[in-house]
Amino acid sequence: MTAKIAILAGDFIGPEIIHEAVRVLKCLQKHFGLNVELEHADVGGAAYDKSGNPLPEATLEICKSADSILFGAVGGPQYEALERDLRPEQALLRLRTERELFANLRPATLFPQLTNTSSLKPEVVSGLDIMIVRELTGGIYFGQPRGFRTLENGERESFNTLVYSEHEVRRIAHTAFQVALKRKRKVCSVDKANVLEVSELWRQIMIEVSKEYPEVELSHMYVDNAAMQLVKWPKQFDVIVTDNLFGDILSDTAAMLTGSIGMLPTASLDKNGKGLYEPIHGSAPDISATGVANPLATILSVAMMLRYSLNEAEMATQIEQAVSDVLDLGMRTQDIADGGSYVSTRNIGDAVVNILKSR
Ligand code: IPM
Ligand code: MG
Repeated sequence: MTAKIAILAGDFIGPEIIHEAVRVLKCLQKHFGLNVELEHADVGGAAYDKSGNPLPEATLEICKSADSILFGAVGGPQYEALERDLRPEQALLRLRTERELFANLRPATLFPQLTNTSSLKPEVVSGLDIMIVRELTGGIYFGQPRGFRTLENGERESFNTLVYSEHEVRRIAHTAFQVALKRKRKVCSVDKANVLEVSELWRQIMIEVSKEYPEVELSHMYVDNAAMQLVKWPKQFDVIVTDNLFGDILSDTAAMLTGSIGMLPTASLDKNGKGLYEPIHGSAPDISATGVANPLATILSVAMMLRYSLNEAEMATQIEQAVSDVLDLGMRTQDIADGGSYVSTRNIGDAVVNILKSR
């Protein structure tokens, strides 16, 4: 059966990196028999510019019927003053809700060739392999009520709601334990149970669900401590499971341990394992159109898609190996060049495709 992939390039470097990832997909189609159909659609600021909507109905329809979505990056300074509902980031948030992409897998892994690009000592980060499982469709990002109001004395106030229902915590707990079963079988649940009721229930449910996974070791950590431990000795972690907001913050911290966010993909999955795949970095307006963006995070997002949604683990490994070979050749984009010489977005894409073709 032909799998349908929606391609949403987005803004600034979005189209530049997606272009290289699409070339990788097409190479797999041609040389490895990958059976996919690609459909491009507008998203983010680019879509807003055309139609006044960061997630046009046509795009949403394509995404709803697709097996997977490959997403570039959205946003830019010219959109920051827009009303919240019209901002590019809303496209991503709405896609997460509409497709119920509640499970966000954010690996923080370090290619051995890049150990020196991390700002931490090599012995702290070498061999790093953490998986952050972030709850993505609940918590304070979506809780109601939210908004602004003016008090009787004229003072302005704003508010958001942190709320989690049992089923939301339960399903992300299952995701985390299942991911851990395929790894080192350790789950650390990160919360703020010393202060928040929401975290108290979160912790209880984690403990309940863990009984179904006796092979997996569950531990708990407060989020402030987790932030410290991540930079102190990150290799103590295998799988970290946490809520939407804590996961947003900790996953960027974990990502930076690897030296560059230009290397990291992420998957946002629904209950059937279908999902949205994207690089974790943003649209980088400052380097857009200069040809220096690193396409590897997006190319590795394709690998994640093949592994998690398209049941093509072998092809996923081929891509990951090709990326590693490119690094072995000494080819670097600016972000991972450690001050040394670097090549262009296109050069890296060419190299990955050529290595794949030669297999
Ligand atoms: C992320 C991003 C998004 C988030 C933004 C763009 C809405 O930071 O995917 O981590 O906060 O979830
Ligand atoms: Mg973030």
